[in-house]
Amino acid sequence: MIKFLNPSIEKPYIHFQSLYQEAKENGQKGIEAICVSSYNQAKKEVEARYVNLKYIAHNEWIFFSNYLSPKANQFESHDKVSVVIYWASINTQIRMKSKIFKTSHEFSDEHFHGRAKEKNALAISSRQSMTINSFDEVEKNFHDTLKTMTPETMRPDFWGGYSFTPYYFEFWKGHENRLNKRHVYERQDNEWVERLLQP
Ligand SMILES: Cc1cc2nc3c(=O)[nH]c(=O)nc-3n(C[C@H](O)[C@H](O)[C@H](O)COP(=O)(O)O)c2cc1C
Repeated sequence: MIKFLNPSIEKPYIHFQSLYQEAKENGQKGIEAICVSSYNQAKKEVEARYVNLKYIAHNEWIFFSNYLSPKANQFESHDKVSVVIYWASINTQIRMKSKIFKTSHEFSDEHFHGRAKEKNALAISSRQSMTINSFDEVEKNFHDTLKTMTPETMRPDFWGGYSFTPYYFEFWKGHENRLNKRHVYERQDNEWVERLLQP
């Protein structure tokens, strides 16, 4: 589930919240999964992966990850992302474009301290996306770290939140006859400009 903090009443956010509610009522699994694409400048490639969206704090969309991972390096060298969600239960796609930033240390700390210790042990023990010789190594690192965990264990500085505030939204609602509805909101001169697109 996504946590809404101080929900925005701007049009695309109202649109999003109503679809989120509809998807939830229709039993959508993995409702918080969002696919984030970023640009790998060194390889001149685009890479995409799912992450779990944890919060929409007013107009900031927030997920957590490893700050030394490939995605982190990509956000560092090219700070724009393309994000997509698909909720099969209501045949709806939501596309967004945005700049991406790290959240404040305080926000990351608060989230870290509210998580299960197993999750934090994994965040601490994993060098995300590095090659390993065997899965046993992952398990050993995890269990060794878990044994040392106390409620006072601090968030490592290589793990924390990312926040993005979209300047572009497209809501796509599928229809049986392919008369799909596409509704765009684009931020221009501090206002949301709306338009419809052909299917
Ligand atoms: C549904 C789903 C949710 C995921 N959520 C996260 C997440 O919140 N944070 C994260 O770092 N990785 C998450 N992952 C793993 C990422 O997809 C990815 O494998 C990992 O972050 C490494 O990506 P990178 O090598 O591009 O940095 C998730 C995977 C799936 C399938």
